[in-house]
Amino acid sequence: MHETVQDYYGRQLQSTSDLKTDACCDTSSVPNWLKTLLKNIHPEVLSRYYGCGLVCPPLLEGCRVLDLGSGSGRDVYALAQLVGEAGEVIGVDMTDEQLAVAEEHRQFHVEAFGYDNVRFLKGYIEKLDELDLEPESFDVIVSNCVINLSPDKQAVLKGIGRLLKPGGEFYFSDVYADRRVPEAVKNDPVLYGECLGGALYWNDFIALSKQNGFADPRLVEDRPLEVTDPALSAQVGNLRFYSATYRLFKLENLEPACEDYGQAVIYLGTIPDSPLAFILDKHHTIATGKVFSVCGNTWAMLQDTRFKAHFQFIGDFSRHFGIFEGCGTILPFEGTIQVDGQRQVADPCC
Ligand SMILES: C[S@@+](CC[C@H](N)C(=O)[O-])C[C@H]1O[C@@H](n2cnc3c(N)ncnc32)[C@H](O)[C@@H]1O
Repeated sequence: MHETVQDYYGRQLQSTSDLKTDACCDTSSVPNWLKTLLKNIHPEVLSRYYGCGLVCPPLLEGCRVLDLGSGSGRDVYALAQLVGEAGEVIGVDMTDEQLAVAEEHRQFHVEAFGYDNVRFLKGYIEKLDELDLEPESFDVIVSNCVINLSPDKQAVLKGIGRLLKPGGEFYFSDVYADRRVPEAVKNDPVLYGECLGGALYWNDFIALSKQNGFADPRLVEDRPLEVTDPALSAQVGNLRFYSATYRLFKLENLEPACEDYGQAVIYLGTIPDSPLAFILDKHHTIATGKVFSVCGNTWAMLQDTRFKAHFQFIGDFSRHFGIFEGCGTILPFEGTIQVDGQRQVADPCC
């Protein structure tokens, strides 16, 4: 599969407009803060953008960031501006032609930004241990529309776990299917290259993440994808594809489910560009100044990460109140009664 993908991104595609579906191209509106960053990026780099989402989480100043499948470097050069002079961004890609475009314009960006904080490495994202990268040295790892192209997604997740610092996160956009992709779709080189054939069934992705140490994957945003080409659309039939951004924190103490310890946080409104609210994920928009109840996992994602200084924390893990309501898991037992107006317990048998 590597050769098929290298041929597709190295020789067949010359620019974003050559794509046959909107799977590998982010058609959602570009936010203003990103427009400002993109203005400083070389037009040739921008013209070869094949991503499917935004991979710029907040609070990156001074961070060390790795971009898996960095292509011609659009996200690397955008992130380079967000991490600033004290930070560093490294892009990894296996396709010479993509790397050549990224490298060719490195000096242009050094001059545009006023500092040199970017490197590109040739390599396979399944073999990150073969690159000279120190374990547990990255604050954030990103990837934009690449994991679906990998024939060994488990190896990719393992490598990410090895390179992230404790409390670091893998923040990435990719393509997912609403069911397991049939072999005929998987084996079609165009559908594979277009980021559809190799897409994981979303629930298999959740299971794979958990198996590889990321106990609580958080969905940040998603959108349905359109297969615009009529012939390709007929080939995929009833399959539905989505572009989705997930964040996976490397935190040892995350639990398999959201557990309620009666904890809460208050966002201080101090993260740059997020004065009114902090968005952790699709289900957690935390308004500035408001006491916001959280499960133990969300607590850890805020306290044991780079976000800690921007929150006030109320409570601890000393008392457990059962499963956290509204986190997708419910008490499975029937015959419950209300006690103390809040909590439900099983109906007594006698
Ligand atoms: C859809 S493009 C996305 C490029 C870039 N992230 C962007 O947003 O423009 C996929 C990129 O991933 C690279 N790629 C795919 N599989 C890879 C692998 N197994 N190892 C390294 N790079 C890979 C390809 O060479 C290509 O540049």
